[in-house]
Amino acid sequence: MKVLSVASECAPLVKTGGLADVVGALPAALAEQGVQMRTLLPGYPAVTVALEGGESVAQFDDLFGGPAQVLAGTAAGLDLLVIDAPHLYARPGNPYLGPDGRDWQDNPERFAALSWVGAHIAAHGAAGWHPQVLHGHDWQAGFATEYLRQMDAGHIRSMLTIHNIAFTGPADPGRLHSLRLDPGRFHSEGFEFWGGISALKAGLMEADALTTVSPTYAEELMTPEFGMGLEGVMRHRQASLHGILNGIDDAAWNPATDPTITPYSKPAGKAAAKAALQAEMGLPQSGGPLCVIVSRMTGQKGLDLVLEALPTLLEQGGQLALLGSGEAELERAFQAAADQNPNVAVRIGYDEGFSHRLIAGGDAILVPSRFEPCGLTQLYALRYGTVPVVALTGGLADTVINASPAALARKVATGIQFSPVTAGALRNALVRLGALYKDRKTWSRLQTNAMAQPVGWALSAKAYAELYAGLTKDR
Ligand code: ADP
Ligand code: GLC
Repeated sequence: MKVLSVASECAPLVKTGGLADVVGALPAALAEQGVQMRTLLPGYPAVTVALEGGESVAQFDDLFGGPAQVLAGTAAGLDLLVIDAPHLYARPGNPYLGPDGRDWQDNPERFAALSWVGAHIAAHGAAGWHPQVLHGHDWQAGFATEYLRQMDAGHIRSMLTIHNIAFTGPADPGRLHSLRLDPGRFHSEGFEFWGGISALKAGLMEADALTTVSPTYAEELMTPEFGMGLEGVMRHRQASLHGILNGIDDAAWNPATDPTITPYSKPAGKAAAKAALQAEMGLPQSGGPLCVIVSRMTGQKGLDLVLEALPTLLEQGGQLALLGSGEAELERAFQAAADQNPNVAVRIGYDEGFSHRLIAGGDAILVPSRFEPCGLTQLYALRYGTVPVVALTGGLADTVINASPAALARKVATGIQFSPVTAGALRNALVRLGALYKDRKTWSRLQTNAMAQPVGWALSAKAYAELYAGLTKDR
């Protein structure tokens, strides 16, 4: 089975969130299932610099405004196809934002180009390599199915994975031409969405299979609360929609071998990591639970609720250590909380190594997201015996076993879930956390259970492989 993965980020080369981790992990996970996956990426500076080999396997005189080629090579153990198109991708900063922190004005065209090249490779191959499935990720790959239609490549099967439906890839209808779209498809059964163009909707309507990154989010997507206006489309495509949980790289996230900490393989080993983290963040030793957060700071993540519920944590002798960056107002509010409370420490920024030390050193991790397609940090936490306190939504609902009386009686609980996603419910969860933390025997059971939970890719890779096989079986 040959699959072309089409995405706008890929760890460890270029990452703004969990999408990159998943795109970076899938090829190795799927190789074990007999799937040969190559990943098509835009040639951002970080990608072209890392690329080794770099044989030109396709050339375009005019790729959305300039000449371009596709380079085949490897980087970080990944088999890559990279779009070398300086007019689109040779820019500083993150994949989507300019130095002023705003979206590049031509993002619709930049990622239409990604989708277009993906469709071209699927239709015509790349130096003799012919994928059977084009597997795109999020809106950035949404138009691929439109272009496959234009290229008469009906024999190519397509799959689109929704990592976050909040990003729909909108564009003004005046851009139909510059996006190389067929105006005849600008209607509600095509890529028209509320009078505009939506790259995500294009893929949602057309891809042979849709997946999202947890079974609960798949259900939620069909409701007005979570579907963000696309719930009707999701219901229409229900028969082709599959929820497949993300895994994590359990070699990179392994407390027994993690070079950023004093390694441990039992919960007792966390004491050294906790003391080191407290020292690093200038937190005093304390009798209560040290809660950690590693997160983008946006409304999705519900961090404003943590600010509201913070007194409840501190009253119980608890502490908070946060690593994150995002909305300026949230950054400021957390900084202020740290200035006022010796038991709160905040680091604004992005720091992979430090994120490991936080996850290892925390007693608990807080993930109070308003919606969470899957979420990865609670999975890292489980592996490190760091008890997740999570909102009951999306992948957080699917990966944590709530410490209900029944689960405690059966000794299977791994964390705490709360619902609804309000400050009041989070406060109650923090009170439960405090009580569980004091009960040393139960707490140690939670930690042991957490560390035993499988969080790797094995099961999900099998599910993807089966879907690819199902899509191509009559071909
Ligand atoms: P999302 O993709 O919505 O941001 P996920 O939980 O799926 O949420 O993935 C977030 C990823 O980004 C995780 O790998 C997490 O560790 C990482 N991350 C988020 N913020 C930071 C940060 N400030 N420093 C280091 N890593 C971070
Ligand atoms: C998105 C979601 C997150 C998910 C990640 C990887 O960024 O917000 O929940 O884990 O994609 O699929």
